[in-house]
Amino acid sequence: MDIKDVICDFKEVFCTSEEGLVFFAPGRVNLIGEHTDYNGGHVFPCALTLGTYAVVRQTTCSKIRLYSMNFKNIGIIEVEVDNISYDKVFDWANYPLGIVKILTEVGYRINTGFDIMFYGNIPNGAGLSSSASIELVTCIALNALFQLNIDMLEMVKLSQRSENQFNGVNCGIMDQFASGMCKKDCAVLLNTNTLSYKHVPMKLDGISIVIANTNKRRGLADSKYNERRRECTRALEALQTVFDIRYLGDLTEEQFENSSHFIENTIDRKRAKHAVYENQRAIKAVNALAQGNIQVFGQLMNESHHSLRDDYEVTGIELDTLAASAWANGAIGSRMTGAGFGGCTVSLVYTSEINNFIENVAREYEEKIGYKADFYIVAAGDGARQIVNI
Ligand code: GLA
Repeated sequence: MDIKDVICDFKEVFCTSEEGLVFFAPGRVNLIGEHTDYNGGHVFPCALTLGTYAVVRQTTCSKIRLYSMNFKNIGIIEVEVDNISYDKVFDWANYPLGIVKILTEVGYRINTGFDIMFYGNIPNGAGLSSSASIELVTCIALNALFQLNIDMLEMVKLSQRSENQFNGVNCGIMDQFASGMCKKDCAVLLNTNTLSYKHVPMKLDGISIVIANTNKRRGLADSKYNERRRECTRALEALQTVFDIRYLGDLTEEQFENSSHFIENTIDRKRAKHAVYENQRAIKAVNALAQGNIQVFGQLMNESHHSLRDDYEVTGIELDTLAASAWANGAIGSRMTGAGFGGCTVSLVYTSEINNFIENVAREYEEKIGYKADFYIVAAGDGARQIVNI
């Protein structure tokens, strides 16, 4: 769909002749550093060129009216600006409403109503951060509309807080950070403990980033995610009896190996092992990239998948089949990306071999799993922004 069509629909849906301002925030794909962002470790995501658009205009009344072109059947949702609380019937709109609530809670003035319409082109429920993109796009739109003057990093933090507190999903900061702070043709290495970060060029000659979507429904994803967080917290508490540390990400592999026996619960020990090693892998991978060593980067991606499969246990037959098939069909590296339990893999593939690669992996996946995977060749895009030249 073209953004011009979205603007047209905006006028029609809200019965206005006003154009509205247009904003965009991307989804993300994480290249390495998985389940490290709530363990004080490093992540290395890039923004996609896919994401969520918002068209918005201020009104003179006290109502917020929200509409999504992805959920036309739900229709317009209306809420009083000073009376927002989570409600299941609001469905998708709880994400933007959470942003309004958090902004007003921390003291920003949203003193009139507004109309806002969304259109997203990220595949639904694929673990490519459609929720972070809707949060960020709402936040930057309101920032501009009500001249709130909030900087991007603050909007990233508020968006994460909104997802944690309003939507009850205990996520780390990676998705919102990637959606807000990424740059075209770069991935961002973020230390989630200090929030220091650096943009790293990710446009590789002759190599493409391929995302494969398992199309598996991510049924228990949120509860399993929260369970992993609890397991890591317990492991950390056991290690804090011997180390003065705040996060599992503070440990080297060697320190972990020498002290892992203090974690009595073997499951918690495996989870902690992943968190420690995965953090170090992310750092090593970015160093390899800086040295132009893409093979080592790919190898570390593969090791990341093994660890997520064997120690963190968040993959499952669909993701494992896609990764194994990618490894067997010439990927430089391939791993699950995002929370897991379904969702997508990310692979680095020689551009000249992409057609064969996709054909073979698609066939092998369908033969084994019984339904099709989807494939997207993606480029690293810019973070959240206003769209002015339409
Ligand atoms: C989800 C969460 C992120 C991160 C990843 C796993 O995408 O929203 O904060 O924890 O899972 O790396």
